[in-house]
Parts: sequence; structure tokens; C-alpha cells
Amino acid sequence: MKMALSSTLSRLNLIPRPWLPYTVTTLRALKLKPHKPQLLRPMWAPLTLSSFSVSAQIHRPQDDNLIVLGIETSCDDTAAAVVKSSGEILSQVVSSQADLLVRYGGVAPKMAEEAHSQVIDQVVQEALNQANLSEADLSAVAVTIGPSLSLCLRVGVQKARKTAGSFNLPIIGVHHMEAHALVARLMERELQFPFMALLISGGHNLLILAQGLGQYIQLGTSIYDAIGEAYDKTAKWLGLDMRRSGGPAIEELAREGDAESIKFSIPTKQHKDCNFSYAGLKTQVRLATESRNINAEIPISCASSQDRRSRADIAASFQRVAVLHLEERCERAIEWALKIEPSIKHLVVSGGVASNQYVRARLDQVVKKNSLQLVCPPPSLCTDNGVMVAWTGIEHFRVGRFDPPPPAVESEDFVYDLRPRWPLGEEYAEGRSEARSLRKA
Ligand code: KG4
Ligand code: ZN
Repeated sequence: MKMALSSTLSRLNLIPRPWLPYTVTTLRALKLKPHKPQLLRPMWAPLTLSSFSVSAQIHRPQDDNLIVLGIETSCDDTAAAVVKSSGEILSQVVSSQADLLVRYGGVAPKMAEEAHSQVIDQVVQEALNQANLSEADLSAVAVTIGPSLSLCLRVGVQKARKTAGSFNLPIIGVHHMEAHALVARLMERELQFPFMALLISGGHNLLILAQGLGQYIQLGTSIYDAIGEAYDKTAKWLGLDMRRSGGPAIEELAREGDAESIKFSIPTKQHKDCNFSYAGLKTQVRLATESRNINAEIPISCASSQDRRSRADIAASFQRVAVLHLEERCERAIEWALKIEPSIKHLVVSGGVASNQYVRARLDQVVKKNSLQLVCPPPSLCTDNGVMVAWTGIEHFRVGRFDPPPPAVESEDFVYDLRPRWPLGEEYAEGRSEARSLRKA
């Protein structure tokens, strides 16, 4: 499903816009006197602590009373939520583009943008209504600004700036994948830095070592295709119901199948690094569906029992190997991370694919073997949502990273700070050289 998105990104080779530094306006008008404001980083710079003010990290008592609206439109869900800095989730609203996904078999950027635009006002209003609040009660607005398609991001950013501008609220630009990781700290209040995170979604696979807020080392990334994309394509080729996206459909069907029946090979095992590539496995799956004469036009609900069995075997075999790739990479990443930070105790697994029970169970084995603990947010917070954006906004706001309120009326030629490509942290040297050789290959 997300292939259209990721491949569009690479096809368009979106070039970062020049950074538009804002001028720091008076903070007197803010409801809560926040910490020293920080300029946002240039969009091509990875998210690292070096770009934050260290003095701004002092925790202040009023931080416990923050109420933040989070807006997420980076992919195919339009989501908003209101969260308190105490950790209380006041509301959560998600409007999915399921029908569009079924129709176009993936994220069609222009359609997705239109769909976001149609529902964004309603979704935000519903989040406020559910929280029993008005915009005037908010402390700040957080919004995803990357990485993803600018077309989709712009809808959320426009709404966030309009809301923040009308009600004189500071605004926080959020990294989508960082939000997937940090939401674990909302659920598991014991989760302290440093920790590791495996982030598995439709557009990205990332293995990071989180040393502190905004201070990440990227141990591995997806070179060709993320795991969610492979789940979605497999589901499409097997004629599954894509309305809840391909992942849940494969997870369900795989329970009926024999996971050992087809010996797919584990991706890029010869590369002793922590990067991911699901392109080869996708090809193997496609060939398997062709050789078994599976007709994706015939929905699984209409398939004969033998046909269904054969599809279930492919689903189960695919899932086994897709997850073995994760396990193998996690084993190595744990080794690398413990060398850098021997005090690590947790591996966070988040992003849409982390809602999969089989994925969780297998990774739980890996972390236990290494005497670590697995932290997985509940499924509704693994898939894209506004809570993770609001919470990440809260984390950054507390340390002084935010923009001052935008003007109530934005000038027509204002260039939004959108970051279609935005690395999360610095690449770990050992991983980088292997990634290069894999890209070349
Ligand atoms: O994080 P997410 O909601 O959106 C992106 O940032 O891409 O992840 C969406 C991906 C989709 O590819 C979807 O098929 C996958 O997560 N997914 C799952 C499951 N639920 C969602 N994959 C496997 N098993 C699931 N239960
Ligand atoms: Zn996501």
C-alpha cells in the first residue's frame, strides 16, 4: 500500500526547500511561558540534540499542565488527538482513507491530499469535542512535518498553523517516526533514555538507539521497501480485503497456513548490518503467487478451499521470513547498541506493523534472550494516530523546542516548513558502509 508513497518520494527526488528561519516574537502573549524558544533545524539536517538548547531542558512545574492538540496527515490517515502532559489522553480521532486504498491499491498522493482536506476540519473539531475543550484551552499545537509527501503534510500543517494563529498558540513540528518511538514513553512511564527502537511502518523501517530526546543514532534503515509495504503488496496479490490495510489481513490468513511450506530466503543475510530490504522478498512472493495460479481478482472470500489453503501458506511463509529479517537485524542492533550504551534495558517496537501479534511474540523472544524488555504501544497507538504527535509535541515543548504562534492571517506566499526527507539521527558508521554497498549492489 505504501509503495506508491515511498516510490513517489524517491521518484520525485524531492529537494529540501531552503530553511526559512523564523524571527522569535514576543512570548508574553503565550498562555504558558515556555522555555527559551529554539529555531527549527534546517530540514535536511537529521534530528539530533545538538540542535536543541541544552539549558532549555530544565523541567518546570507548569509543564505538568500542558494540553496539546496533535495533528497527523503524513500518510493515509487523517488523525487528531488532545493529550495532557500528565499522560492523560483526552481524545483520539482517526479518519482512514480505506476506500481510496482499495480503489487505487496504494496511496495516490493527489487523492490522499484531497481526502485529508475534506475531513481535516471535522477530525480536529471532533478531537476537541471529545476532549470537551475549545482551542482556547490548548497550550500548543503539534503537527507532523515529515518525513512524507509534502502534499499530504501540507494539509495538516495548514490546519495546525491556522488553529495556532487564531488562538495565539505555539506550534511544534514533529518527526513522524520519532513520534512512533516516543509514544512508548507515554504508555510506559518507566521508559527512560537510553533505549532502542525498532520502527516498522508502511514507508520506513528504522532501528535506532535513542540516547536522549532528539538524540538518536540510526543503526539501520530500509534500503529498498519497508516491511509494511511488503505486507500490503502480498495482501494485494493474494486477493485479500485491503480495507483495514494489508497487514491485518495477512496476519489473519497466516494463522490458517503452514509457515514452513514455502522456503523464501531471508533478505540480505549476507550483509552483516542492521539495514532492511523487502524488495527481494516481495519478488519471491509474487513469483509464488504466479506459480500457484493465484488470481488476485478472485477475492479470498470466493476462493475454493484448496485455493484458500494455498494463499494461506504463502501468507504464513511470507510472514515467517519477513519477521525473521526483523529478528536477525534486531539481534545485531542490540549487540551494537549495547556496545555504545551498556545500560540499555528496553527495545521499543512501534509503527503500524508492530500491532501484529506474531511480530510482537517473535521479537519478545529476541529481547528476552538478550535480557532486555520489549515495549509495544497498544495497536491503536502503533498505527498512525494523533496521540503520538501530541505527546512528541509535549516532550519537545518541555525542552523549549517550538515555534512561536504564527500570525492570525498567514501571508499567501508563506512557505511551509515541510520535510519530505528527514533522517532521524546520525547514521552509525558501521551501518552506513554496509548500506552503501547494498545500495550499490
Ligand atoms: O505506521 P503506519 O500506520 O503508517 C505509516 O507510517 O506507514 O503503518 C502502516 C503499515 C501498513 O503497511 C499496514 O499494512 C501495516 O502498517 N500494518 C500491519 C498490521 N497493521 C498495520 N502489518 C502487519 N500486521 C498488522 N496487524
Ligand atoms: Zn506511521
